[in-house]
Amino acid sequence: MAITDVAQTSPYLLGNYSPIADERSVDLTPVAGEIPADLRGVFVRNGSNPRFEPVGRYHWFDGDGMIHAVHFDADGAHYTNRWVRTTGFEAESETGTSMWTGILEPPDLSKYPQVFKDTANTDLVWFNGELLALWWLGGDAYRVSLPGLETLGREDFGGTLETHIAAHPKVDPTTGELLYIDFDPIPPFLTFGVVSPEGQVVRSESVALGGPRLQHDLAFTDDYAIVFDFPFMWETGAGRTQLAFHRDRPSRFGLLPRGGSATDTRWFETDPCFMYHVANAWQEDGTVRLIGCEIADPLADDHNNPPGLPDAPRVAMLRLEPYLTEWIFHLDSGAITKRRINDEVAEFPKIDVRRTGQRSRYTYLQRFAPMTTLAFDAVIRHDLDTAATTTHVWPDGWFGGETSFCPKLGSTAEAEGYLICFVVNETTGESEVHVLDAERLEDDPVCRLSVPGRVPTGYHTWWVSADELAHQQPS
Ligand SMILES: [Fe+2]
Repeated sequence: MAITDVAQTSPYLLGNYSPIADERSVDLTPVAGEIPADLRGVFVRNGSNPRFEPVGRYHWFDGDGMIHAVHFDADGAHYTNRWVRTTGFEAESETGTSMWTGILEPPDLSKYPQVFKDTANTDLVWFNGELLALWWLGGDAYRVSLPGLETLGREDFGGTLETHIAAHPKVDPTTGELLYIDFDPIPPFLTFGVVSPEGQVVRSESVALGGPRLQHDLAFTDDYAIVFDFPFMWETGAGRTQLAFHRDRPSRFGLLPRGGSATDTRWFETDPCFMYHVANAWQEDGTVRLIGCEIADPLADDHNNPPGLPDAPRVAMLRLEPYLTEWIFHLDSGAITKRRINDEVAEFPKIDVRRTGQRSRYTYLQRFAPMTTLAFDAVIRHDLDTAATTTHVWPDGWFGGETSFCPKLGSTAEAEGYLICFVVNETTGESEVHVLDAERLEDDPVCRLSVPGRVPTGYHTWWVSADELAHQQPS
């Protein structure tokens, strides 16, 4: 893709944010260390990679979804990258040009119901023997094969799915269910749903909200799903959509009974904020505990921002200064307590997903580099028991992305595994896969693999174990 004037308006089309034009499948060889014998499975990462030159102002979240995968098997490591063949991607490939404007331009209602292009560019989750690619605004769940990354079509769970699914659905490792949300600028503003372990939607309910909100995640415990009503309004008017942050309204956290109705959701209120990503949640001693990354001042150029705010990266209007935070909901008293538990500016929290919904000790955070755009210069392991942190700084001039925790073959202990990440030299575009021992993060990587070509900065990752891969549904 040739980038012309659009590049003048978005830093997210420059440097390692700029898209690549090719799809590759290559074997990787270590440039340092050796591939661990107990690392078997596929590391996948989604991201925005526009195929054609954007029309109008470009937002980093607009680009077509491209997945990068590294398959570790008995023969070594193998890299593949492919676009997700969404309906919009296929339509634009027919015409050879961009047919949608992005979220910074007025919504083109003539394209309803797909006002903005569903790119499936945001998230990945393994559920019921399938890898699903998902979109942050709520779209179709696209099935993608492993390890070849072929798009297999839209997953509607045997016709039982009647809404879209937003990014960050959660798999409950205890029950095998998939919990998800969908959200819209028109009623119902928020829907909560559950897919059974067999792949049928068994619950889909509206959650009463006072209006449209930006949503990005959910959490759950044994007895509750946790949904959010942050005062981050997604307002439509004058032919455009815009975000507004209302400091005079609380953040509301809804404990939605998993065994009951959404009408019985119990709301807890506290300071106004926004949170993109949850690390985990669980029940403990009469409380519900939620760990996630709080942003107290989520809008850039907000004249209500308190004076003296530190510099923070931004993505267009979004201001990113997150801190790992714990909210404790006291079920008896209805009280809520909140505390910041890590002082590093960091996001994209990850855990050992086998602990999702149960108490987890370790959270892996990606630390922000001191830049005006979003880049990660280190990964941090936060120990909830001791508050100790261990940091692995990426090499000077190189930036990482979201890591995934990959359990060692045969291990069930929370800490015993590897962290995997794409790491890229911002100046040269050299790209590598780094494998870190999660119990010895301060050490050099266990293994570094050179990736021919460049891996642009992206979003979310997932780890599919060799055992899960062996049980992949046939395409
Ligand atoms: Fe996300």
